[in-house]
This record gives sequence, structure tokens and C-alpha cells, in this order.
Amino acid sequence: MEKKLIYLDNAATTPIHPEVIDAMIPFLSTHFGNPSSQYSLGRNTRSAIEGARKRIAKILNCSPAELFFTSGGTESNNTAIKGAVRDLGVKRIISSPIEHHCGLHTFDALEKEGVEIVYLTIDNQGKIDYNELTRLLSDLEKKTLVSLMHANNEIGVLLDINRVGKICKQYSAFFHCDTVPTFGHLPLDLGSIEVDFISAAAHKFHGPKGIGLLFVRKGIPLKSFMHGGGQERNFRAGTENVYGIVGLAKAFELANDNLMEDIKKVSYLKSYFKEKITASIPDISYNGPTDEHSIYTILNVSFPNVGEAPLLLFSLDLEGICVSGGSACSSGANAGSHVLNALNVPSDRVNIRFSFSKFNTIEELDIVLEKLKTTFLLKIYFGIKFNLGISVDSLIYFHSIAFSIFCCHIG
Ligand SMILES: Cc1ncc(COP(=O)(O)O)c(C=O)c1O
Repeated sequence: MEKKLIYLDNAATTPIHPEVIDAMIPFLSTHFGNPSSQYSLGRNTRSAIEGARKRIAKILNCSPAELFFTSGGTESNNTAIKGAVRDLGVKRIISSPIEHHCGLHTFDALEKEGVEIVYLTIDNQGKIDYNELTRLLSDLEKKTLVSLMHANNEIGVLLDINRVGKICKQYSAFFHCDTVPTFGHLPLDLGSIEVDFISAAAHKFHGPKGIGLLFVRKGIPLKSFMHGGGQERNFRAGTENVYGIVGLAKAFELANDNLMEDIKKVSYLKSYFKEKITASIPDISYNGPTDEHSIYTILNVSFPNVGEAPLLLFSLDLEGICVSGGSACSSGANAGSHVLNALNVPSDRVNIRFSFSKFNTIEELDIVLEKLKTTFLLKIYFGIKFNLGISVDSLIYFHSIAFSIFCCHIG
């Protein structure tokens, strides 16, 4: 019998909400008109796009004219960061070493073109030094963009977006915030946060993949990144992803319908999991904060060294459990996670990111906890190590034998 999937990798992507699929289907079938067409079939899709934009703007407390649909977080981040250099005279970017690669690699490219890139110092939990940011910005010589993510997608550490916004405002720096991990998960009031650009991706909040959003504060003269037709008010050419836009808006509305209750529910799942795992496996620690300085959806657990992390992930996968692993750099064999490396996480730990959603249940967590307990206690007490040298067949064989022996003992 096929195992039931237990999906605890919601920071990678999320399952689409069934109501989002329902909202999208007409735009994949009967409502196929090109939004630029003049007849009613086209006018209807145009009005679906503009209706979606208006509804999102209302929730964000901004103007619909400040929102642009993109293909996702990567495009939104690239557009804001490169546009700030090209169109706004930015000569220096201040960021952190634990940004998503779509930020970091954009900074690398711009550095080659002569832009100064400054990375803030982070502490061992990934928190930036706000005083260092203020100090750097008090040098007003260079027009500066501050680009920082709202929550880190690997370790969950949160940025005080209000505080950074105020500092940037004080020193007339532009502020771009990658809100991909928080959009649809935390309330965002763009009427009160001093931020110039934010980025979002629908697939992180139970919407479809390949559709995102860029907020550009009114009056900031960012120019078109994509040349062609006049779509998105001449800002992003190309026929619109209508079903994606409709799906994004529906997912965002659903996320905000019960946001506070969902936050409470998912926070409870995270704290339950943390409490149980700490109590049942020795020598557990956490990468990043686990208190109010971290987003409630992410828990990055550091396990004792009982062998190779990929094999642990593989063994969880065999049980239908989806999680993400991240390693610190070990002897140059692979680059590992740039986030864990920046935190100086020892390379001999096994690190797994568990990320939760409102669709997870305590029953699912109990199954995962039992599986982890079995695996780790066997390895810790009997000294059995994962060994990458063995074949996949023998690994599967070992895995199933070990698991069934243990089940017999407890059962
Ligand atoms: C923090 C962050 N920014 C940007 C992105 C890129 O989003 P997308 O894959 O939708 O382009 C991701 C995706 O994992 C992310 O976690």
C-alpha cells in the first residue's frame, strides 16, 4: 500500500489550496481571451487581472498602481535590485550573507559592474546588527539600497522590517525586502511600513508556481525590465499569466481570511514538534532562533552526528516524509548551505529544516517524531552509522529490517 505523504517542506513550496484551483480553472478553459484584446472575451480576463490587483492592494493597504505581477520571487528581487542600480542611481547595496541566492547572485553580478556590496555582520542566530546598519547608512556619500529578507527561508530568523524601514527612511536609503517567506503568513501593512519594494511568490502561500508580485512604492521611477508590449502599465511586457494572477489573488485572500487563527495553529504545531523532539532525542539543538525572532512556519533542527544527512533524508523519503536537509561545508566536498556556513554550524551535524503549514496535523507530526526517534536512538545506542558506501538496495533492506525490528520491540 502506498504510504501517505507527510509534507513538512512548506518553505520550499506549498500544496495549492483547492479553492485556488477552483478559481483558476475557468481561466485555463473557457476564459482564455488575451487581456489586451478589445472584445468581451479579452475584456473579461483584463477585468480579472485588475480585480485581483485591487483585492491584493486592499489587503496590503497600498494602491493597485504600486503592484506588478511577475513570474515569482526571483524575478521580483532581480527587478527591484537591478532597477535600483540602473534607474535610481544606487551605487552601494547593503545586505546580509544569508539572503536567498537570487539576491546574492544578483549582488555578485552588480559587483562586477562596479556597485559596492556590503554584507552586514550577523550573529550566530542569523540576526543582523541594526546599529551597524545605522552606522553604515550615516555615510551619506553613496546612494544606497538596503536589501534584506523578512524571514530567512532556511533558519526562519525574522527581520524587524519596521525598524529597518525607519532607519532607511532616516538616511534616505531605498529599502527592498524579500518577503517571499512571510507574504501570506504575516500581516503586512504597506501603509505603515517604510519599505520601497517587496517581493512575493504565490507558491509559498498555497498558490500556483510561476507567478509573483513586486510592490514598488508610488513615485519611485523604476523603468521597464522586460521590453515588448505595454502590459503591466509598460513595466513588464508579455501576455499576462491570467490564471496565475487569479490564483495568487485567491491564495492571498484565503491566507488573510483566517490569518491570526492559522498563525496560532501553525505556531502550536511548531512548538509541539520542538518540545517532543527535544525530549526524545539527545543532543538536539536548533539553527537560528526558535522564539519570537523566528517565523512560526520554520524549525531548523541540528541532530547529532550519526552519519550522512542525505541518507537520513532518503530514509525519511522512503516513509513518505518530505523535509529539506542542509549541511554546513565539510572538507570542500560540497559547498553546503551558505546560510549554515555563515552561522558557523559545525560540519559534523545533521541539519534538517521542518516547515509547517495549516494543512499539517499533530498526527502527522507524531508519525515523523516516531520515525526520527527510531532512527536516531538505534544509531546512537547501537553505534550504527549511516554509510554512503553501501548500495541503495542494502540501504533499503537495512532500513526496513531496522524499522520492523524496532516496531516489534515497541509494538
Ligand atoms: C526567500 C526567497 N526569496 C526568493 C525565492 C525565489 O522565489 P521563486 O522560486 O518563486 O522565484 C525563494 C524561493 O525559495 C525564497 O525562499
